[in-house]
Amino acid sequence: GSKLIIDTDPGVDDAFAIALAAVSGDVELLGVTTVFGNVPLTSTTANARRLLQLCDRPDVPVAAGASRPLVHLSKRGSGHVHGSDGLSGHASSLPEATRPLESLDAVGLMVSLLEAADEPVTIAPIGPLTNIAALLAAHPGVKSKISRIVLMGGGVARGNSTAVAEFNIWADPEAARRVIAEDDVPCVMVPLDLTHRCAVDSAWLAKLAASGPLGRMLESLTPDYLAHYRQVLGFDGIVMHDAVAVAEAISPGILQTETYPVDIDVTAGPARGMTLVDRRAVPVDPSGRPVEVAVDTDLDGLREFVLSRLAGGR
Ligand code: BDR
Ligand code: CA
Repeated sequence: GSKLIIDTDPGVDDAFAIALAAVSGDVELLGVTTVFGNVPLTSTTANARRLLQLCDRPDVPVAAGASRPLVHLSKRGSGHVHGSDGLSGHASSLPEATRPLESLDAVGLMVSLLEAADEPVTIAPIGPLTNIAALLAAHPGVKSKISRIVLMGGGVARGNSTAVAEFNIWADPEAARRVIAEDDVPCVMVPLDLTHRCAVDSAWLAKLAASGPLGRMLESLTPDYLAHYRQVLGFDGIVMHDAVAVAEAISPGILQTETYPVDIDVTAGPARGMTLVDRRAVPVDPSGRPVEVAVDTDLDGLREFVLSRLAGGR
């Protein structure tokens, strides 16, 4: 199967995404790197390690990366969405990790995994893009070992952190802009517009909980996240943003994409962190570079893909 590295800031939907990759037999999860984001780095790192233990994957190395953005400090995380520990207050109910944290940092681990890989590797960034920007800037030699970057981030017609900016981009727009600008690394962007359409309802979560120990534990991490979506969308379910991107990383083509020039607003005004997706019929003198933007999928098929894998365990 194909090889995968996940860069993450768990986060409830990150937890679903990590578990999806960890239990999928048709992908080789080489490593997980962590970044600040939903909650501070110490929590995202602890969460990633415990989640891999939950999935019975102590063989997967975890390395910690950036604790803050490249240039400007962000104003807030998403503790109000995912709970103060990132997992609805239930992080400590996950099993303790038996595998020590890597002594390499996130960039160091990615470089060593990429250099050792005998075939190109997919990278799935599902948090702020700080680690990925640092990797590509400092180690351009590994770009040829990256088959594609499949990132959850951005919005075509909407934001969530602000009216126009999606959280992962908004949390470090300079890093996101650098990653998007690396035109020698193919990039797929999975934006909010699509992840929202892939939301799962309480019936789906009930099936997950009934499916076995992994499903039950994952479902138990959702209460704060559920409450958030009930409040902001009036919807009884969750948006599993990051799992949608990881599904595409595992199963290329499960999402349909269209290629548009994309750039990121890094100014200090109200559009900071906005993804500019140039959908003009003829993009005259576009800012940014061509990115495959995920625009559609078989929604029920995608929900079933995630559920059946999480239900199956490893
Ligand atoms: C993204 O922001 C985070 O809160 C989620 O984990 C996801 O990666 C959605 O905007
Ligand atoms: Ca995330």
